[in-house]
Amino acid sequence: MYKKITTIFGDGIGPEVTQQSIKVLNAIGEVFGHEFEYERALLGAEAIDATGTALPEDTVAKALNSDAVLFGAVGDPRYDNDPHAKVRPEQGILGIRKALQLYANLRPIQTFPSLHHLSPIKFKQKEGIDFVIYRELTGGIYFGEKYTAEDGSKASDACTYTREEIERISLLAFKAAMQRRKKLTLVDKANVLETSRLWRKVVQNMAADFPEVSVDYLFVDNAAMQIILNPAQFDVVLTENMFGDIISDEGSVLTGSLGLLPSASIGNSTALFEPIHGSYPQAAGKDIANPIGSILSAAMMLDYFGMQQEATAVRNGVNWTLENGFVTKDIDPINFYFTSTIGDLICDYVQGKAVESINKGNIELRKSTII
Ligand code: IPM
Ligand code: MG
Repeated sequence: MYKKITTIFGDGIGPEVTQQSIKVLNAIGEVFGHEFEYERALLGAEAIDATGTALPEDTVAKALNSDAVLFGAVGDPRYDNDPHAKVRPEQGILGIRKALQLYANLRPIQTFPSLHHLSPIKFKQKEGIDFVIYRELTGGIYFGEKYTAEDGSKASDACTYTREEIERISLLAFKAAMQRRKKLTLVDKANVLETSRLWRKVVQNMAADFPEVSVDYLFVDNAAMQIILNPAQFDVVLTENMFGDIISDEGSVLTGSLGLLPSASIGNSTALFEPIHGSYPQAAGKDIANPIGSILSAAMMLDYFGMQQEATAVRNGVNWTLENGFVTKDIDPINFYFTSTIGDLICDYVQGKAVESINKGNIELRKSTII
C-alpha cells in the first residue's frame, strides 16, 4: 500500500521523537511491502520563526492532501510566560485541529506490566487498567468567544457546544464501547454547567440506541479522584475538550511516564497522530526524550490505515524494549538508553534482526553521573 504522510516535527523534542517513528514506519514498510512517503510541514514556534504565523496555509494544504499527519509537539518557553504575545505556538495545533475538523481525540491509557513499579500511585488493582479517553477537540471553552476589556480589567472565554458537536463524538465513543468492554462514562460538570447538561441529554438519548452499553455519569472533580483511586473501573471515558485535556494528563501518570502515551485525532478529513506529551524544551536535542508516545501514535496510524498486523508488530517491539530494560531517562534515570537507540531497537525488532540474541553490552548504555 502507498500512503502519504505529512510530518510536522514542531517544537522542542518534537523532531527527535518523530524521527524515531519515521524510522519505525520505514522498517514496517520494508517488512510488509508498503511505501510511506513523507512531506514535512511547519507548525508552532518553528513556523513562527520561519513565517511569522503558527500555522502556515501551506501546512493545512499539505495535511489535507495526505493520508495522515504525524505530529511531534508544540510549545516554546519564549512564549509561555509572556501574556502579551500576539502569536503563540499553540495557535498552530488548535488551528490545525479546527481546519481538519479533528473533533475526536482518542487517548488510550494502558499500563505496561513491566513498568508497574514506576507508577507513583499504589493501586490495589494494577492489572486491568485499560481505558480510552474520547476527548472532544474542536469545541468548548477552547474555541468559544474570547474577550479582554481594553483596559485589561476583565476577560472571558465562553464555553459553547451544539447538539451536533456532542452527537458526533458520542457516537464514536458508543461504537468504541461496543468493541471493548461495553462501558461508557460521561465526565462532565452537569451540577453547574449548561453545556454539561446538554452533554448529558445527548448521551442519555443515544444510550437508548446502545442497550448493551452500560453508561454512567461522573462529575469531573469526582472523575479526577476516581482515576487515581480505581482506574480499572473505566473503559471508554467520554468528555468535553478542557476536561479531557486535564484528565488525560492525569491518566498518563498511571502508566509511569507521560512520555509513553499516544493519541489519534480524527474527524471528517485527514486524521492526525501525536504523542500526548508536550515539547519538553529542557530535553530538546539531547537524545534523551522518550520516543514511545510518538511510536505508539504511529501504531495508531497503522490501525487507521487498516494495517492491524503492522500495528501489532510495532506494539510488540515497544513491549519488547520495555520488558528488556531498554528505556529512556524518564523511566530509568540511572541506566538509560538514547531516544535514537530505542528507535533503532524497535526497528530491529520489527525486522526480526537477532532480537533473541541481543547483547545489552553491545548497545550504548548511558549511565547517569548523578547518583
Ligand atoms: C494537548 C495539549 C494542547 C491542548 C495544548 C498544547 C494546546 O495540552 O494536546 O493536550 O491543550 O489541547
Ligand atoms: Mg494537554
